[in-house]
Amino acid sequence: MRRLKRKYMNDFPILNRKINGKDLIYLDSAATSQKPVQVIDAVTDYYKNHNANVHRGVHTLGDESTELYEAARKRVASFIGAVTPSEIVFTNNATDSLNLVAQGWGLINLKKGDVVLTTVAEHNSNVLPWEYICERTGSGVEYMELTDEGLLDMDVFKSKLTDKVKVVVLSHASNVLGTILPVKQISELAKEKGALVVIDGSQAVPHIQVNVQSLGCDFYAFSGHKMLGPMGIGVLWGRRELLSNMIPIRFGGGMVLDVDKKTYELAEVPECFEGGTPDVAGAVGLAAAIDYLDDYGMENVRKHEIELTSYAIEKLRTVKGLWILGPHNPDVRTGLISFVIDGIHSHDVASILDSEGIAVRSGMHCAMNLHKNMQISSSTRASFYIYNTLEDIDKLLAGIEKAVGLLK
Ligand code: ALA
Repeated sequence: MRRLKRKYMNDFPILNRKINGKDLIYLDSAATSQKPVQVIDAVTDYYKNHNANVHRGVHTLGDESTELYEAARKRVASFIGAVTPSEIVFTNNATDSLNLVAQGWGLINLKKGDVVLTTVAEHNSNVLPWEYICERTGSGVEYMELTDEGLLDMDVFKSKLTDKVKVVVLSHASNVLGTILPVKQISELAKEKGALVVIDGSQAVPHIQVNVQSLGCDFYAFSGHKMLGPMGIGVLWGRRELLSNMIPIRFGGGMVLDVDKKTYELAEVPECFEGGTPDVAGAVGLAAAIDYLDDYGMENVRKHEIELTSYAIEKLRTVKGLWILGPHNPDVRTGLISFVIDGIHSHDVASILDSEGIAVRSGMHCAMNLHKNMQISSSTRASFYIYNTLEDIDKLLAGIEKAVGLLK
């Protein structure tokens, strides 16, 4: 950890900030990660030297911009093991990607009586688009509960996977529990039943090596801003044959080959899903973030987070009245820990931590079904990334102890 710290820590200028007179300890990377100078410089260089709209003009800057945008698509494709770059649709964020699948695929393929199978642990972005489509198609969303430890019981999954299930919608890693779901096994079972598998990978791609082909799923969505990239760029990966049979949901410039009053001819996949001026700088920044993560090594990201999470679980367990949500085994969870403290509201904990310079998230983390299911009104979440250290966790523990001392 010390070696990694020396080489990489200085790349994040924001970590030099003081917050309330204290050194910033940033433990909210599950909401958005901080950005290294390499990403900030790539975005700045794009605007300083290459800015022009893509695909439309026949001039040098337009060509450069197009080349950078398409190079970023290739970079994303190789990072997640897509078959071809044309399987990568650039969107605004994971929410946008998940809405594209639900509306672009679900609206034309789901019918009365069909079931969309999911869990109570999903982020709102992964269920609301399906609730919306099910209401319009007469299909319905069915929710599976998780075990007390926050795992998906595969026997429950098998029993719920009836012939009516047309699509299984899951987060690869939960944004509250941290649980990593066995997507490969889930995809194999779903395939036997002819159901598609749509994965929200927002909390997985930044933290574990993801290869969409070996996972065997059909669609995979994630955001750039949680993996060191800029805000405003997201990705939807889909199997080429599925993307080719989807309908666009954003109509306008750049997504058609021809328009003739009442008719139009759609551009090829993926351009047909990217109507309007794209976030080229965002794509360039995302490619720089991927270069950075590749240099760090995704296996090192995982190792680092397992070390931090094991240490944090050990420390937080010593606090009387504090309950850690999700599995305690760091091998089946990512680097985030949500917890509740008896008798203390999560916003009060977060506010005292903030006074110590420590940024955590409090509330329901857009996972309202999960909190209601666990019968808790909110939780506090500390989430780690490559720039966090064991010392950060010591400070988190001291801050929590201060909060307990003041508020109990
Ligand atoms: N989805 C992000 C989170 O869980 C914002 O915090």
